[in-house]
Amino acid sequence: MKARTYLLGGLILILGAIQLIPNDLPEVQSTNPGDIFVSGLLDDGMHQILKYTCYDCHSNETAYPWYSHVAPFSWLVAKDVREGRDELNFSLWAEYDMMEKLKKLDDISIEVGEGEMPMEIYTVIHPGAKLNTEQVKEIVAWAENAMDIVAEEEE
Ligand code: HEC
Repeated sequence: MKARTYLLGGLILILGAIQLIPNDLPEVQSTNPGDIFVSGLLDDGMHQILKYTCYDCHSNETAYPWYSHVAPFSWLVAKDVREGRDELNFSLWAEYDMMEKLKKLDDISIEVGEGEMPMEIYTVIHPGAKLNTEQVKEIVAWAENAMDIVAEEEE
């Protein structure tokens, strides 16, 4: 009994102590003039889908739920958002050159087409962000069509 009480006390102390470590969640910016939506590459419908299923990790408009401020979850969320934005940031679309845009659109069609994105851990916590077969097809078709537009724009 006593040992258990100590263990529990120790655990609570550790959980409390790790809250003091700064969480370094990447910053949120709600105004992004370089966003892919501003580029005109997607319509409202596609924008809504991407916003709902990708923007938490692939834009500067991350909506952090309350638990993402609580360690150790905060560490995992911070890592996914940092790495996600590094790979693809829809908020910084205007900063990519033509080759980068083509590469990213190609990656989107592959990752989404193969069911790799959005990350599984995310759709477990946000079931509404799970793409159905129709939406997967829609995104793949959109990305491929957008590649043609990007390639033509630069000619
Ligand atoms: C929970 C966060 C999260 C969500 C939501 C998410 N991603 Fe990602 N994404 C990542 C992370 C982290 C990486 C980098 C590591 C990796 O490739 O697994 C990544 C990588 C990528 C890459 C680059 C892959 C490569 O290796 O070339 C693409 C493209 C991508 N994501 C597209 C999307 C799209 C499109 C959506 C929405 C349908 C989406 N992601 C949703 C976190 C996320």
